[in-house]
Amino acid sequence: MLHLAFGQASETSARIVSMDLSAVRAAEGVVAVFTAADIPGENNTGPVRHDETMLADGEVVFPGQPLFLVAATSQRSARKAARLGKVVYEKRPAAVSIAEARKAGSRIEETQRMARGDCAAALAAAPQRISGEFAMGGQDHFYLEGHICVATPGEDGQLHLLCSTQHPSEVQHLVANLLNLSSADVTVEVRRLGGGFGGKETQATGFAAAAALVAAKTGRPAKFRVDRDDDMILTGKRHEFEVAYQVGFDAAGQILALSLHLASRCGASQDLSPAINDRAMFHVDNCYFLPDVEIVSERLKTNTVSATAFRGFGGPQGMLAIERIIDHVAIALGKEPLEVRVANLYGPGRDVTPYGMMVSDNIAPALIARLRSDTNYDARVRAIEVSNAASPVIKRGIALTPVKFGISFTTTHLNQAGALVHLYADGSIQLNHGGTEMGQGLYVKVAQIVADVFAVPLTQVRVTATRTDKVPNTSATAASSGADLNGMAAHNAAMTIRERLAAFLARLYGCRQGDVAFSLEGVTAGEERMTFAEAARKAHIGRISLSATGFYATPGIQYDRAAHRGRPFYYFAYGAAVSEVAIDTLTGEHRVLAVDILHDVGRSLNPLIDKGQIEGGFLQGQGWLTTEDLVFDHEGRLLTHSPATYKIPTASDRAKHFVVNLWDGENIEPTINRSKAVGEPPFMLAISVFSALNRAIAAAAPDGREMAQLDAPATPERVMAAIAQFASP
Ligand code: MTE
Ligand code: MOS
Repeated sequence: MLHLAFGQASETSARIVSMDLSAVRAAEGVVAVFTAADIPGENNTGPVRHDETMLADGEVVFPGQPLFLVAATSQRSARKAARLGKVVYEKRPAAVSIAEARKAGSRIEETQRMARGDCAAALAAAPQRISGEFAMGGQDHFYLEGHICVATPGEDGQLHLLCSTQHPSEVQHLVANLLNLSSADVTVEVRRLGGGFGGKETQATGFAAAAALVAAKTGRPAKFRVDRDDDMILTGKRHEFEVAYQVGFDAAGQILALSLHLASRCGASQDLSPAINDRAMFHVDNCYFLPDVEIVSERLKTNTVSATAFRGFGGPQGMLAIERIIDHVAIALGKEPLEVRVANLYGPGRDVTPYGMMVSDNIAPALIARLRSDTNYDARVRAIEVSNAASPVIKRGIALTPVKFGISFTTTHLNQAGALVHLYADGSIQLNHGGTEMGQGLYVKVAQIVADVFAVPLTQVRVTATRTDKVPNTSATAASSGADLNGMAAHNAAMTIRERLAAFLARLYGCRQGDVAFSLEGVTAGEERMTFAEAARKAHIGRISLSATGFYATPGIQYDRAAHRGRPFYYFAYGAAVSEVAIDTLTGEHRVLAVDILHDVGRSLNPLIDKGQIEGGFLQGQGWLTTEDLVFDHEGRLLTHSPATYKIPTASDRAKHFVVNLWDGENIEPTINRSKAVGEPPFMLAISVFSALNRAIAAAAPDGREMAQLDAPATPERVMAAIAQFASP
């Protein structure tokens, strides 16, 4: 087996004048070295627009970009040799920041506008107006297992790839293009990923393509296991955003007009940036009715590693914008922020989103009210005010923020899934579907659904690895819809087999099909009783097909992207969190003291898994907003490329009081078991931490009524800087 490493660009933006790889080729352990010229097909790893090279073709567009590929006898040899390339560059002008890209007119696509009513007139007419701006950083996925792929050559030029991707079909298609193979010649298999979080939705392709190229060229198995630092430098992150707003409101804090400008740093290629930035726009309303609204979204192309999907997929950025605006309105009015939130919630007659979708499942008002009373929110607000007045150094803050997250891929055709179920004659079941397991519990949930259909114990259902040769043309496991889509597809497959069984047994025992029943005690057909295995055996002897595919496509959704109008989401998932924090005004350090979450998963498919997703999502969101600070230098080089400098939350950052409860309700749409998606929505509950920090900071202002300039993440430095803005009394 060969081990791989990329030779990477040291420049930010440049023409490659020459590459001398003789020292690389001569290095110990090196078996082969490849450049763009060795790629037989299309040199592309870009998922939608084909604008991303696997190996640079004469041009460098971001620092760290792969230039050449080394195959050696060990990972260490490959990595050492990869540093020996002598590359001559001709520097070109670079745009690294949002401001630089704007100045250069560098965008990944047209600026998008979503609007309703007459925002300018409504702003002018509003009794009160404020404006502001702030920025939020990106985030590294920090999956515990980095990217990895093993490619093995097969017969007749075929390839098998064992790969850590959330999107096996896309890897299959792009690798086939790159090697001039057909999709039928490339099989991608995914047993499980050690975490993805969106970071393996498109980003696995480059490594998989590299392994595939080496396997195809050398006829030897090739393994690309990416070192952590390289992984952080080479792969995309959450988009950082800059936000500017003007908001008009009345004395009660009700928003009358909002003009919002979102600008994001998309990096050097398009990747999924259009859809991610669209989702940011879709979540600017969060749970609130915005009567006259204009949202402008600018997508800037920069000479930095291409930004990509990350849990929430733009939703967190849009939602943080509106929650911060609401905090600003509350501070301007001297009102309790929760009152302002409640005053703006969707409700009867105020129930259409800025993109024209009816909010017909609105449980936010009831859910917020429940959490507010269950957590004694109002009494705690008063207690904190008293304690802050008596505490000059430590200031506390509390916030309740809600979440409404749209479920479905906003690219409508992606909302489909397939499954394959085999019932063996001994009664055991094999299940396969297009979804990938990355720790979110999808395999267990879908297996439960199938076990339920046949009324057998979960242990009787064996889930096999996701493979493109079992279920083809799949969508990424993303947008939180893995269980919704694959669960329903698997349900449909299992139902097909169950109905065949029932029809057969009814014929065999002369009863009606409705009199065949499946339960944990076994199968009954009229007066006959048998075990499930006996039923399967009888059906096999009776020459009944015991294997079936299942398919599902989400109904009822459509979206006109040109007009930004339609129903992009099948339904919404809701939640709310109360977070209490304390800051040290002398050091800027903070602690999250208490978190109470009430979250809506519809009728839960698995409460333990769902609670795990809620806890993990919240903590990951807390990390994004507090400790995870991506630092790039002015040439776009990532400086925080290891856990030594990039701080994800640890167990000790979790609040001592951390309580998660599930909302008791079911999906109004007929999803599988009336459940709701849970993967991403809880991430945004952590906005309550940022809002609580803002309130603690405001408590340090002389009259408690100043809105501090605070960018995310709220590191100690930024909290200190925020406090320093207040004039001392
Ligand atoms: N949970 C774990 N443990 N690991 C992950 O990588 N990814 C998240 C979320 N929860 C992730 C996770 C993201 S970004 C998404 S979109 C969903 O899981 C995907 O899985 P689902 O659609 O089955 O919920
Ligand atoms: Mo999740 S960001 O949709 O993979």
